[in-house]
Amino acid sequence: MQIPRLHPDTIEEVKLRADIVDVVSEYVVLRKRGKDFVGLCPFHDEKSPSFTVSQTKQMYYCFGCQAGGNAIKFVMELGKRSFADVVLDLARRYQVPVQTLEPEQRQELQRQLSLREQLYEVLATSAQFYQHALRQSQGQKALEYLQSNRQLKEETIQQFGLGYAPAGWETLYRYLVEDKHYPAQILEKAGLIKPRREGGGYYDVFRDRLMIPIRDFQGRVIAFGGRTLTDEQPKYLNSPETELFSKGKTLFALDQAKGGISQLDQAVVVEGYFDAIALHAAGINNTVASLGTALSLEQVRLILRYTESKQLVLNFDADKAGTNAAERAIGEIAELAYKGEVQLKILNLPDGKDADEYLHSHTPEDYAELLKNAPLWLDWQIQQIIQDRDLRQATDFQQVTQQLVKLLKNIVNSDTRNYYVSYCAEILSLGDTRLIPLRVENLLTQIAPATATYSKPVSARKAWGASKVSHAPLPTERNLLEHAEALLLRIYLHCPEQRQAIIAELEERNLQFSLSHHRFLWQQILEISSVDVETRNFASQPDLISRLQDHFLEFSNEMGLISHLFHVDEKNQKEILRTPQVVQAAIACMDLVMLEKRYRHFLELWQQTDPEAEPERYQSYYQAFYAEKIKLQQIDRQRLFSITELL
Ligand code: UTP
Ligand code: MN
Repeated sequence: MQIPRLHPDTIEEVKLRADIVDVVSEYVVLRKRGKDFVGLCPFHDEKSPSFTVSQTKQMYYCFGCQAGGNAIKFVMELGKRSFADVVLDLARRYQVPVQTLEPEQRQELQRQLSLREQLYEVLATSAQFYQHALRQSQGQKALEYLQSNRQLKEETIQQFGLGYAPAGWETLYRYLVEDKHYPAQILEKAGLIKPRREGGGYYDVFRDRLMIPIRDFQGRVIAFGGRTLTDEQPKYLNSPETELFSKGKTLFALDQAKGGISQLDQAVVVEGYFDAIALHAAGINNTVASLGTALSLEQVRLILRYTESKQLVLNFDADKAGTNAAERAIGEIAELAYKGEVQLKILNLPDGKDADEYLHSHTPEDYAELLKNAPLWLDWQIQQIIQDRDLRQATDFQQVTQQLVKLLKNIVNSDTRNYYVSYCAEILSLGDTRLIPLRVENLLTQIAPATATYSKPVSARKAWGASKVSHAPLPTERNLLEHAEALLLRIYLHCPEQRQAIIAELEERNLQFSLSHHRFLWQQILEISSVDVETRNFASQPDLISRLQDHFLEFSNEMGLISHLFHVDEKNQKEILRTPQVVQAAIACMDLVMLEKRYRHFLELWQQTDPEAEPERYQSYYQAFYAEKIKLQQIDRQRLFSITELL
């Protein structure tokens, strides 16, 4: 047997998680061509690519050598490895928990495999039974309901295999067990009948209901939803969780929608069975229904398989709107959206209608238009936050700001966050563009990660003298900078083995000495060692100090300020001995001051630019100061503190 001791759930999960493009890309350089990817076939020699990978089909195929299969097969063939070996490997890589099988379990599994087959069969037979009953006199009422209340055409009723469960207590039971001789146990396991509490025997789960078969993505019936035709509760009765059916892993109509989803490269998720049916009937066939629960990651993964650009539109009932309800409906996929792994849009239909109701009074084109203009999830959320608020009122303003900050904090991609920060700032400026810079500043400070001490502890900021208001360095800042620069120069002069590292650090960070006499000394150093800079042979200058001193005879003014650097006293000695930590700390200090300067510079330019007259410049200044802000937040403050001890 090919599958030794792995549980089939493990294999299924691996197939679901190990995306073929991802797996193949590790071995083959793939390029996008149309819907597919192409590359040079790893299984035979070729000069032009005939090896294709389809993400939607999760298959590879080579037109040159006819090699083909799924992700598991690919790794097996490439490494001449066994099935189990490859599955285990992929399981590890894609964090799939591995379940194994003991010999007894394997027997049980064999039994279960055939149990599953029996379940599929009895469910398919039941679906036929219900379809048939819909056409009998007992089903008259249900058929009329479909035709008039739901305005469904015969074609659609057929397409979805809609049916009717008769009103008696055991019509299905009798048909399947007495006429067709299916074991009652199988019906029970399929969720179709239940044992009576008293007196033995069974009764039908679905009675006098309109029956909607729920199919898996391959089109096999795995469960039913039954709608009452009266006021009976619940409105919809669904099959219980069974061997074949799990609500959180199933999407209604996926079997019908998968072609449309990959064609349109977008999936629409609605809440109700009839919303999906009505949309398909209207020709909007990239639609699935979520079975009325929060979307699970599993469900989203199922859909995203079929769209390359990961576009998902949620058309959930507007009456359930409000940010909390939406977050609940969006459930686990919010995280995916914040990470940018799914392009999530939200469609709320006018007047709180669901898709089915909407299509009774509007054309499919109307719906398509709304779909096209559906806002991105983040825009929609922002809209939810500000609607019915008066930003001129202090409390509303404060609450809205807080909620926006919470939202902005979650956005992982910095470009996206960047964009929304300026968007929110615009909203909070209430049309007064002069206020935008202030609002941006404010939002940025609030969304700064809690770990970054940059904008938080006042004492640290004071210690560093880094002030946003004053443009001239404060005395402490200057002291600190002077000290850091002097240290660096002294180390450069007295520790030849550090020279290379210092040059490299300064170059990499594009740092310059800020104090003019230091800058002057540095220029002289570079001049004297220009040849050596090119060969990167810094250590071979034992006479650097004496050559500099000769050089400086001409510049006695500057010399006064820097001559102390040529000598090492006891205190300096200690510092120098602590290199390279001291080099790092000094560099970090210079870096910080430089970043602050650039940050203030761009912020100022930005504040002076009119967004309407020069939108591009406005945007580029914004990006520039924001980039510096991010760098400032990332500076490793710990490193800086070691230098304060030296002061
Ligand atoms: P809704 O209550 O929003 O109703 O249920 P609907 O789909 O518009 O129903 P109609 O148009 O009155 O027939 C949305 C979905 O939630 C699930 C079903 O999947 C339903 O389609 N649901 C709802 C249940 O499973 N049980 C219920 O009792 C109600
Ligand atoms: Mn409805």
